[in-house]
Amino acid sequence: MQDRPRRLRRCQLSVPGSSEKMMRKASEMDLDFVFLDLEDAVAPSEKRPARAKIVQALNTLDWGRTTRCVRINDLTTEYAYEDIIEVVEGARENLDVIMLPKAMSAADVQFVDKLLTMMEKKLGLTKRIGIDVLIEEVEAMMQVEAIAASTPRLECLIFGMGDYSASQGISIRDIGGPSGYPGDIWNYQRHKLTIAARAHRIDAVDGPYADFKNPDAYREECRRAMILGMVGKWAIHPAQVAVAQEAFSPSEVDVARARDMIKAYDEALAQGLGAVQYGGKMIDIASVRVVRNLVDRADRIGM
Ligand code: COA
Ligand code: MG
Repeated sequence: MQDRPRRLRRCQLSVPGSSEKMMRKASEMDLDFVFLDLEDAVAPSEKRPARAKIVQALNTLDWGRTTRCVRINDLTTEYAYEDIIEVVEGARENLDVIMLPKAMSAADVQFVDKLLTMMEKKLGLTKRIGIDVLIEEVEAMMQVEAIAASTPRLECLIFGMGDYSASQGISIRDIGGPSGYPGDIWNYQRHKLTIAARAHRIDAVDGPYADFKNPDAYREECRRAMILGMVGKWAIHPAQVAVAQEAFSPSEVDVARARDMIKAYDEALAQGLGAVQYGGKMIDIASVRVVRNLVDRADRIGM
């Protein structure tokens, strides 16, 4: 069994697969993760031609350090299986991850897993293609624990608040907010999804924020997701990328403090102490576990 790759997902930029221009633009950005879309950003008349455009973009553009993903259409459509076949056969090792939208159950993810297994064998691919899954239907939210456990190929759960709002009957004007709800309207869903993801050692990522001309509100949504344990957020426009990549990066000061705290704790342990003062406050093994998450983020970024 291969280990899951440790990919950066501070920002996942959505790019319509029908737009050669936007895909080229995306390839020129310093980006953790891109997904070339065949689903909602592409009109039905463009869905079939977009597959070839995506393959061309994956095979010919220089994506540098960026993880390359394609979002297929959901499994109730007439497109999904050919999306996978055309894109994987066309791009082969130039594709890292398939994103499955509107998953309803673990069986949906297992279908994609099995198809990819067959194709990897047939094509002789040595690199396992990962799966990221969008949780955006109420049925999926109810099944999120089973979905998180569905296959070792699964790398990430994403909370898709646009379709999710429609599915639950939540009325918001723009995707992602603001809602006018007294409190954080996504608190429950973000918690629930992140708990399931963490329990299965996979990433949790927050979905889109449509008002791309409001960086302050977007940054605040990033912060809320990050505090709960999510590792990144979607961007739907280039203007959001740097904001998310910064919001999900720990500061140099916090990383230095975390490393220093771990050192202080190890020294205390060597003296037979389980709890000591650090910066005038109590720390123990739980404090160290909390900051190890931060150090883990820093390690992934290469800080
Ligand atoms: N990826 C790459 N490039 C993008 C981009 C994206 N997601 N969104 C915009 N750009 C480019 C534009 O092509 C434009 O390029 P130019 O300056 O060379 O002409 C530049 O960034 C500025 O774009 P702007 O004029 O501000 O917006 P727009 O009207 O061209 O596009 C949207 C606005 C919302 C239509 C566009 O951002 C978009 O399609 N986003 C993705 C939508 C999507 O994927 N939805 C599904 C997931 S929720
Ligand atoms: Mg959706």
